[in-house]
Amino acid sequence: MRKKITIVGAGNVGATTAHWIAAKELGDIVLVDVVDGIPQGKGLDLMEAGPIEGFDCNIVGTSSYEASAGSDVVIITAGLARKPGMSRDDLVTTNAEIVKSCAEQAVKQSPNCVLIVVSNPLDVMVWVAKQVSKLPKHRVIGMAGVLDSTRFRTFIAMEVGVSVEDTQGFVLGGHGDSMVPIVSYSNVAGIPITELIPKERIDAIVERTRKGGGEIVNYLKTGSAYYAPGAAVCAMVESIVRDKKRILPCAAWLEGEYGIRDVFVGVPVKLGAKGIEQIIKLKLNDADLKALQSSAEEVKHTMAKVKL
Ligand code: 2OP
Repeated sequence: MRKKITIVGAGNVGATTAHWIAAKELGDIVLVDVVDGIPQGKGLDLMEAGPIEGFDCNIVGTSSYEASAGSDVVIITAGLARKPGMSRDDLVTTNAEIVKSCAEQAVKQSPNCVLIVVSNPLDVMVWVAKQVSKLPKHRVIGMAGVLDSTRFRTFIAMEVGVSVEDTQGFVLGGHGDSMVPIVSYSNVAGIPITELIPKERIDAIVERTRKGGGEIVNYLKTGSAYYAPGAAVCAMVESIVRDKKRILPCAAWLEGEYGIRDVFVGVPVKLGAKGIEQIIKLKLNDADLKALQSSAEEVKHTMAKVKL
């Protein structure tokens, strides 16, 4: 039987996620948005691309959650995107209300789903979704590390002049300026990047990665990135619905791992049919571990601004 995947929010991120998921034929898609007409129009438009691209996915756009019932995966992309000059944390109050309402309604229809949250500020919004949905921690996951890591890998490939396919890079921590690109676990075809790229260029790539979302916002002016975020969500969905058990950096609820507790923050996880099947413990050097822990503290600071 085909998998059922619901995407809440039919804006740029939601619609582009649907596009990548359909192109990979990962399942039938329900696109939900409060703005009547947008999910219906985008859903039908995408479905009409099927005969050309050869994907057999049923794609339904709707303004009510009923059509989403029984979804295997629910993705929440709804919420405001930041504009130039804003940090992701500036969105916290408005988006907390939006994510709360979406998570409640979606999980009511699909109590057995794996829930992926994309809305910003990411690590806090995924906590909001966990609190209101009451789903177990392995079935509530935040998308950010896959996005930050694909940016890091892109910049490494550009620097070395090699295929992006041969680059590996892990970005952990909160999805904000405190994120932690882990240089010691980053390589090109197994060769550590420290052997290929001079230190000052690595520092520049790390900095560009941290500001990667803002770089796109500054170009677009009216919103934030969506091609890479959509592709990142799609990679997570693929690992879940095909039970691939990929190791991907995702925001996970920590209970002591890496010396961090009671907060969502980006760490490498094994993603399979059950959601997060394992949190992978990397041996980090002291500086990276400290940076990860202080990034988690920053997330807690923003959590404190949310009243649930
Ligand atoms: C980004 O980094 C939207 O937060 C997202 O582009």
